Amino acid sequence: MAILITGGAGYIGSHTVKELLRHGHEPVVYDNLQTGHRKAVMNAPLIEGDLSDLERLEKTFRSFSIKAVIHFAADSLVGESMENPLKYFANNVKNSIQLLEAMVRFNVKKIVFSSSAAVYGEPKEVPITEEHPCRPTNPYGETKWIFEKALEALHRSGKIDFISLRYFNAAGADPEGELGEDHAPETHLVPICINSALDGRPVPIFGTNYDTPDGTCIRDYIHVTDLALAHLLALENLGHDGTAGVYNLGNGSGYSVKQVVGTVERVTGIKIATVESPPRPGDPARLVAGSARIRKALGWTPNYPEIERIVETAYRWHLNHPTGMG
Ligand code: UFG
Repeated sequence: MAILITGGAGYIGSHTVKELLRHGHEPVVYDNLQTGHRKAVMNAPLIEGDLSDLERLEKTFRSFSIKAVIHFAADSLVGESMENPLKYFANNVKNSIQLLEAMVRFNVKKIVFSSSAAVYGEPKEVPITEEHPCRPTNPYGETKWIFEKALEALHRSGKIDFISLRYFNAAGADPEGELGEDHAPETHLVPICINSALDGRPVPIFGTNYDTPDGTCIRDYIHVTDLALAHLLALENLGHDGTAGVYNLGNGSGYSVKQVVGTVERVTGIKIATVESPPRPGDPARLVAGSARIRKALGWTPNYPEIERIVETAYRWHLNHPTGMG
């Protein structure tokens, strides 16, 4: 059964493609390679195309007899979304709706969607469960939430089954060392700390007066291979009674920015220089996932929940791939 993986050449997409291949599925990657990497799709077919290119998208549905979709392709920089919101509404909403229209035309009923903790905005309480109100504080989070609304409506009309995975902070790299995180520019804390360990550039700490034990922001870091596993389980459980809906995806433990820096120091054995910097607009003090729903409904359990292991896989990949995914 061919499964269309939009954005399958990206960081989380490519780890999911690997997990699908390992379990005998037939992923077909659709990616414009703006941020993704050709090498990352391994031996899965790659269609180089943009979500806005309806003709190419439909041709892909037709020629591979696509039966399900995992939808990663999106713009995903919070800061950029505040400066250029229309780019985010155009790609993450308009183009993504075109994908749903194509699914309806080709009678494809299953979709797993790559959503984000950004849909919640500033949390009222942690851990955040799926019942927590959604009040996104930036256009990126708004676009993810709006697309979830489209999925829910289409599900109610009987046209699709969907699972939307609200990721907390993806980090780490393929434990077998083939895939890793390669963004340009890099904005995520774990790779920034690793790069700093390797090149000595100081890590800016965005805000040191938050209402947290050490004053820095707390996040729930989840290993990218555990995220990939959740997509596999979602795909395999789609269509079973009561599985459709939204699921948080995190480990349920929070680490502060300073704790992450400390972990990278321990794992690498290198002292990391830091500079106290102003808080980033819109950064909530704490984001920690309540992940009981996905554990119960899909039987998901993380294989790499420890922050040390997450950092260690990322570090090993960076050491062995000084030029990234190439
Ligand atoms: N941070 C620093 N210095 C840096 C980079 C990050 O102090 O150089 C801090 C951030 O302020 C934040 C934490 O490290 O407190 C993690 O930041 P990341 O940029 O790695 O991740 P975010 O929590 O900002 O973003 C993640 C996802 C987004 C998603 C968001 C939800 O990557 O896609 O969670 O709020 F939108």
